[in-house]
Amino acid sequence: MINDKWSTNIELHCIHCPKTYPVNEVRYLCDCGGLLDVWHDLENLRPQINRGLFDGRLHGAPGRRVTPTTDSGVWRYQEIILPTPVNNIVSRPEGNTPLYEHPRLSKWVGADNLLLKHEGENPTGSFKDRGMTVGVTQAKLMGSRAVACASTGNTSASLAAYAALAEIPAFIFIPAGKISAGKLAQALAYGAQTLQIQGDFDDAMNLVQQVCNEMGIYLLNSLNPFRLEGQKSIPLEIVQGLQWQSPDWIVFPAGNLGNTSAFGKALYEAQQLGLIDKIPRLAAIQAEGASPFYQSYQTNFAERKKVKAETIATAISIGNPVSYTRAMRALQWTNGLVASVTDQEIMDAKAMVDQVGIGCEPASAASVAGARKLIAQGVIKPEESIVGILTGNLLKDPTATVDYHTGGWPNAQFANAPIKLEATLEAVQKVIGRKL
Ligand code: F0G
Repeated sequence: MINDKWSTNIELHCIHCPKTYPVNEVRYLCDCGGLLDVWHDLENLRPQINRGLFDGRLHGAPGRRVTPTTDSGVWRYQEIILPTPVNNIVSRPEGNTPLYEHPRLSKWVGADNLLLKHEGENPTGSFKDRGMTVGVTQAKLMGSRAVACASTGNTSASLAAYAALAEIPAFIFIPAGKISAGKLAQALAYGAQTLQIQGDFDDAMNLVQQVCNEMGIYLLNSLNPFRLEGQKSIPLEIVQGLQWQSPDWIVFPAGNLGNTSAFGKALYEAQQLGLIDKIPRLAAIQAEGASPFYQSYQTNFAERKKVKAETIATAISIGNPVSYTRAMRALQWTNGLVASVTDQEIMDAKAMVDQVGIGCEPASAASVAGARKLIAQGVIKPEESIVGILTGNLLKDPTATVDYHTGGWPNAQFANAPIKLEATLEAVQKVIGRKL
């Protein structure tokens, strides 16, 4: 141990050059400008880590006091995430999200074996809680006086909640008018100081980095490598939930590329540690109007594209993703690929996910729209096993949902418009009679 906070076998490592930094240094980038990883000493960990260790921590008894190592789907893997004594941990707890299977949805997608992992069933309604429990725990270990992030909404909702739990002041930078009502409501309710920036997410992201550097505030965007350590628990939980058998594909929406990076690192490390035999292929799905990573991928990453982002899936409306280079590495590790889908495809896929009783926010449906497209193109074979990630809850963006069902989308395939009628028994009987 460096002291009673961190184990000695983690460090910050640059992903581009050999430079390393101690874990108790506030740092988001290397001196060379490269992104950082939390490095674990896999050689030393190998004899201690095995499937049985993590399986033994499953099934915390409901109703008793929460213990992070058994109740959190993040801290169950803490040796390979953030080794710190349990009493330091800020947890709700998060994770342990379900894997859904629905025959009608699978048929629509064209997949024989499709499971959906619902990250919208986390404490604040998105996968961000998995990164935030680790990020805010690290902030507490560092004694940070305040925390901050730029956000398209979910990161800010999550940060606001975890900072409140840890009693650390939070400042969130959001693009004015560009985040959904549910997410804004959460940030305000949890007591974060909310700064509505007259610009887009990329402007807010630039600004928050400058402010954090100038004012000694701890930055908790996914630029922060500790956030990504927490998000590694998504693929770990997937493979553990499948008795350590990897699916052929993991398909998920991609915006700032934090998940892409975290998933690649988790799967690489899991294979190195002997937890899995095979690495699933990653399929990162972008919205067509916010697809800089897809466009770069099409040039074989010869060119780094930036765009002015515009999509109904506001969560992934990002034109210059910060984890670009980490995400490129993740594709190499996993033989991954990038695809893009239109807003219409996203909204129809969302309506389908909603209609079968599962439900998700628009960005999440990019997973389902993407899987469907990749199967139609012959890239994914119908018989291959797929896990799609639903990243956020249906209730996050009520405006987009109501608009889809009430005429906002002329080509909507699955609109379910409400019926206006007089308050009489006769009128109601007539309408219901027609429907039965
Ligand atoms: N899905 C949802 C619901 C999101 O909120 C985000 C990102 C993503 C997918 C994309 O994940 O950035 O790791 O590629 N939301 C961030 C935010 C940017 O501020 O809430 P990513």
